[in-house]
Amino acid sequence: MKFLLRRVNEMEHPIGKIISGGIARHLIASLDINSERLETGTFIVCPGTLRRYYALVVDVMHNAGLVPEFVDQPVEGRLPVNLAARVNRKVLKPKAELMLNLCLDNDAINSLPQPVTALPPMHAPVYLADAQDIERIFGVTTKPGNFVIGYTREQGHPVALDLSKLIKRSTAFFSSTGGGKSQLAKVALAGVIQSGLAATLTLDFHSEYGFDDVSESNAVIPGLKSMFPNRVTTFALGKNATVRGIKPDRILEIAMSEIQPSEILQMQDLLALTENTATVIGALTKSYGANWLRDFLRLTRNSENSEDGKKTPAPGSVEFWANSVKISVISASALWSKLKYRIGRLPYMVDQPTPNGVQSIITELKAGRHVVISFGEHDSPIDCALVANIVGNQVAAVWEQDAENYRSNQKVEPRRLVLVVEEAHKLLMKGADSPVYTRLSREGRKDFATLWIVDQRPSEISPEVLSQVGTRVLGWLGNENDLDAAIIGLPGRDMLRRILSNIQPNGVFLIAGYGVPTPILVKSRWLDDKFKEEMRSLQP
Ligand SMILES: Nc1ncnc2c1ncn2[C@@H]1O[C@H](COP(=O)(O)OP(=O)(O)OP(=O)(O)O)[C@@H](O)[C@H]1O
Ligand SMILES: [Mg+2]
Repeated sequence: MKFLLRRVNEMEHPIGKIISGGIARHLIASLDINSERLETGTFIVCPGTLRRYYALVVDVMHNAGLVPEFVDQPVEGRLPVNLAARVNRKVLKPKAELMLNLCLDNDAINSLPQPVTALPPMHAPVYLADAQDIERIFGVTTKPGNFVIGYTREQGHPVALDLSKLIKRSTAFFSSTGGGKSQLAKVALAGVIQSGLAATLTLDFHSEYGFDDVSESNAVIPGLKSMFPNRVTTFALGKNATVRGIKPDRILEIAMSEIQPSEILQMQDLLALTENTATVIGALTKSYGANWLRDFLRLTRNSENSEDGKKTPAPGSVEFWANSVKISVISASALWSKLKYRIGRLPYMVDQPTPNGVQSIITELKAGRHVVISFGEHDSPIDCALVANIVGNQVAAVWEQDAENYRSNQKVEPRRLVLVVEEAHKLLMKGADSPVYTRLSREGRKDFATLWIVDQRPSEISPEVLSQVGTRVLGWLGNENDLDAAIIGLPGRDMLRRILSNIQPNGVFLIAGYGVPTPILVKSRWLDDKFKEEMRSLQP
């Protein structure tokens, strides 16, 4: 009955009708509305006799060339008012190009959306999709596991994401700076936390996720800790660390012995390491084992004067050690200086962390809790790369092992993990990517761990990684290269590029790929007190 009523309603408000086109070449609709009232990216429905067809508007065009004398000059003034209006309405109708995406069987109310393999009838009416259409395609908003991420741009119908699907593959949130990607990632993260479908770990380089923040218009943007006080554990780097004056739940200190040689070598550019670094670190691990860094930095740069007045390396000095293991004193000394002053002096690098360093994060995650590491004032590129790699390597190793155990004995299914990284291009950069994050973005799902990449420069991320990203949440990207990179590997790329290049710069996102049945434009859900209260009220 509801369906019937809606159809009656539809009969009153079509925005146009199909006049040409096909499945492969897109449909063309002539419009009964002003060309300014239909934007690219609008989600429309075209009810046929057997199916309802869903499509995105990819272009809107004037109907030039039909009757040249009407096209060359406005008809107003040349024709009586009523006739002019009629010519405008009937003859100069604008046209829309529609990318057909999905269809639903008319008979089976509960049928699943299918790919389009048949053509809507000629002159089939075209409507803006209504709330019921959006629910049938994207899921019922009240179903557990479905989470409203935003609203359709035109009519504000809520659009749900199936979180259990979303978290099975990696997701990218891309937009130019200020586009709203971090806030939208936080909205989605709140959905995952509230659903309990995965543990989450956020590397919050700019301290935007954990604690409340204030927007440019002085509105409070709630942080995850105040939305989920009992489920989120905040960490900050180093003893006595605070984030905007707030004490975190825990502090994170990293033991020198936790640093793997590869984690230093990955920072080749940041630390300006030379080619000989690998040789020196190899010799250090032979001499000192797991404590290679701690013991290296305990060496001094002292030399002693011998009897003949020449300087000779003193025992316990870098030079003495380099000579003893027959490696270049210059290379060893250069590396010592870099590590001593750029790593050894970081206040969160310690001989013995209290308590348990990165292990305490893993314990939280395994218990299904949610961790936000706020970098606070330690947000230099070296801090970000170092901590991200150390934490990422250790966490991923645990999830990899658990997944392997599960595959061999099928006993305990590992808890799913979502790892969120801001400024992801720094970890997934072309030619200098961090192996652990590359693996997580491409194959993490095998280990029950997936990566959420939040970034403003997708063109700097390796194309191999981009093509493997499951779901894209794409806001306005002002740079052509970023636009191209953001849509790598998506079906219907050219059309999506057109939509994306015309998208509004703030708060509107195109969601496409694995996590949604079909691409859709949404206005982000807003993070405010109302959102916070809703999240709090839904907690068990
Ligand atoms: N969903 C939202 N809820 C609340 N505020 C928002 C939302 N989206 C955007 N904003 C506002 O817009 C500002 C910019 O959003 P955001 O920090 O997410 O941008 P960004 O794309 O991550 O930018 P950058 O690349 O500089 O980090 C926020 O500080 C906030 O004031
Ligand atoms: Mg941001």
